[in-house]
Amino acid sequence: MAEAFELVRADLARVEEGLARESRSGIAPVAEIAGYLLSAGGKRLRPALHLLAAKFCGYEGPSAIQLGVVLELIHNATLIHDDIIDGADTRRGRTSSNQRWGNSMTVLAGDWLYMQAFRLALAEGSLRILDILTRLTQRMVEGELIQLTWLGRIDIREENALEISRRKTACLFEACLQLGALLGEKNAQDEERLARYGLNAGLAFQIIDDLLDFTAPAERLGKPVVSDLREGKITLPLVYALEGCDGTGRRKIESVLREKGFQSVAPEEIVALVRESGAVERARERAAQFVAEADRALEPFPDSTYKRALEALPQFILNRDH
Ligand code: IPE
Ligand code: IPE
Ligand code: MG
Ligand code: MG
Repeated sequence: MAEAFELVRADLARVEEGLARESRSGIAPVAEIAGYLLSAGGKRLRPALHLLAAKFCGYEGPSAIQLGVVLELIHNATLIHDDIIDGADTRRGRTSSNQRWGNSMTVLAGDWLYMQAFRLALAEGSLRILDILTRLTQRMVEGELIQLTWLGRIDIREENALEISRRKTACLFEACLQLGALLGEKNAQDEERLARYGLNAGLAFQIIDDLLDFTAPAERLGKPVVSDLREGKITLPLVYALEGCDGTGRRKIESVLREKGFQSVAPEEIVALVRESGAVERARERAAQFVAEADRALEPFPDSTYKRALEALPQFILNRDH
């Protein structure tokens, strides 16, 4: 994990204990499904960001660990539901829960995890925190819904793809930072700056995630490559590829969408298309712009170890290979 996270390593270990504790349930399917996903690893990027943000804002109490657990539980609940929606068969390098336990059990385990997250948040006794988390969850669901309305459609544009990413991914990063600012009792302006940093870092993160679907080896990703297009999703790199390719390239993409698989076009052909159209560079450039915007949001704050850690993080997001 990024060096930046060294500063919160001890707290992250406590988040990990919290995750194990909060995914326990007397009902076997819930405990099994939640435990299965949570024990499969995951980068724990969201709690790490939240812990770092809280420390950056001068907060030293126990609530950051609790909220770190809450944020990672919400993330895991969305992954469980996302894999059902996407019909995914792999997650974190393992068979997905929906594949293993079926959609019905898995959707309920996801609901349970959401509610477990909210129960834990409730214990903090703050309506402001609950407000941020409920709005966040709604926005993530809206993101997934908007994405569904675009499924299989080749006419999606850059702004639509970014809007989906903003809601389904970046809002959670934003909340991680905002809740850190809240614990540190920062003023509204500083809270807004940190939220802006989170949102932009999150957008860069999703663009790189979309790009890795074309450029990373499957074993590093923990899921098969070019899976987004097979699922009917035209992500930002593909939007750029469509703008930069000829009629033959466009027809290949249409074939995959129509067949919902790689019957007449091989995944390697799509990867080549993305590379040759200049879409890889364009997507990386777009992600770099969001990273620069995240950096700008931090500028007004005085220098500190935590500030430097926050500044280093978007670069890690940009350079990650899985
Ligand atoms: C996956 O997020 C979902 C996206 C927003 C792209 P991560 O890549 O952070 O997943 P884990 O938690 O490390 O498995
Ligand atoms: C990201 O969506 C998951 C959520 C933010 C809910 P994707 O469907 O693009 O992510 P992966 O590729 O399954 O991780
Ligand atoms: Mg998915
Ligand atoms: Mg999805």
